[in-house]
Amino acid sequence: MPSQTLTDLHLEDLENLKPLDIAKLKRIGIESVLELATSIPQDLAEDIGDKPEKMSILIVEARKALTNIGLLSKEFCTAADIMTRRNQIMRCTTGSKSLDGLLGGGIETQALTEFAGEFGSGKSQLCHTLSVTANMAKARGGLGGNVIFIDTENTFRPERIHQIAEAYSIDPEKILSSIFVCKIYNSSHLEFVIKNIAKYLEEYRASLVIIDSIISLHRAEYSGRGTLWDRQQKLNSMLHRLTRLAEVYNIAFVLTNQVQSNPDATFAGDPTKVTGGNILAHATTYRIFFRKAGHNRIAVMQDSPYHEYGSVKFTISEKGVVDAEDDRKTGKANDSESGW
Ligand code: GTP
Ligand code: MG
Repeated sequence: MPSQTLTDLHLEDLENLKPLDIAKLKRIGIESVLELATSIPQDLAEDIGDKPEKMSILIVEARKALTNIGLLSKEFCTAADIMTRRNQIMRCTTGSKSLDGLLGGGIETQALTEFAGEFGSGKSQLCHTLSVTANMAKARGGLGGNVIFIDTENTFRPERIHQIAEAYSIDPEKILSSIFVCKIYNSSHLEFVIKNIAKYLEEYRASLVIIDSIISLHRAEYSGRGTLWDRQQKLNSMLHRLTRLAEVYNIAFVLTNQVQSNPDATFAGDPTKVTGGNILAHATTYRIFFRKAGHNRIAVMQDSPYHEYGSVKFTISEKGVVDAEDDRKTGKANDSESGW
């Protein structure tokens, strides 16, 4: 994460932007180069009342400025440059070695990881666990930073954080004061917070941003009015912004998405119909399905260009997400660790 606040790079610093354009951008709440660089031309065109083509030119100017100071990848760069950037990726433990193994070592920075699953499958419990583990030092499998928890379902529980922190022998008070919770009231509020997320990232020095869940409000609010197209457009632009921010700030985004299980589910098949359709599937870097299996939960890796297709078991205990008991007894989870 850049040490100086990136949102302090102002539109006036862009040589090729005319004062009139700057005024128009400011009128719709875009103040910084970063906000412009992470905008979507169609959204800007709609908000400002201008042509998307013209907005693309402004966005390119902003992206160029960020590229010049090394915060965005160039249009073309060498494989070595990409390697250097990927070497900066950090991984955060989920609390379960098996689940970490499925993820290639834990939740990655520079990525959007989506956990999809039916109700009670452990998505929110994982979010609580990650809120604790992300705070741990890198040497302990954490990201060594604060957490922003965007709660759209009113399911965040500080008591649970307290309990998990104690189980990890970490000072619960310290953890509680390094998780910044934002309660979301409706889909417009969520869009507003995501639009401004760069400022919050800097203000709260976050290494992990959790959105539990990304789609429920949009699903509920768009069910009777508007069109599926509108909803998907909104989600698409939110996710694109998050992807760029994950890259610029080298932080992790975790999103949850409730889905309906298909009763014919097979162990490793694609058992679920994902609400939100294909938009989420293509916009998130990784997608993992959770489903219930008695006391245990099964996680299946989907749609990843980097991971092998596979599935693992985990469970939920007072420590949050942990390895399934039978894996802990046989040491199977430890075996998967050696493959990191
Ligand atoms: P939705 O938000 O409804 O889609 O579900 P979710 O996937 O977020 O489920 P959640 O993470 O809330 O999982 C709920 C399940 O976690 C419960 O059914 C319990 O099995 C388990 N759980 C929740 N709290 C605790 C706890 O304090 N201790 C233990 N051992 N298990 C818990
Ligand atoms: Mg939940």
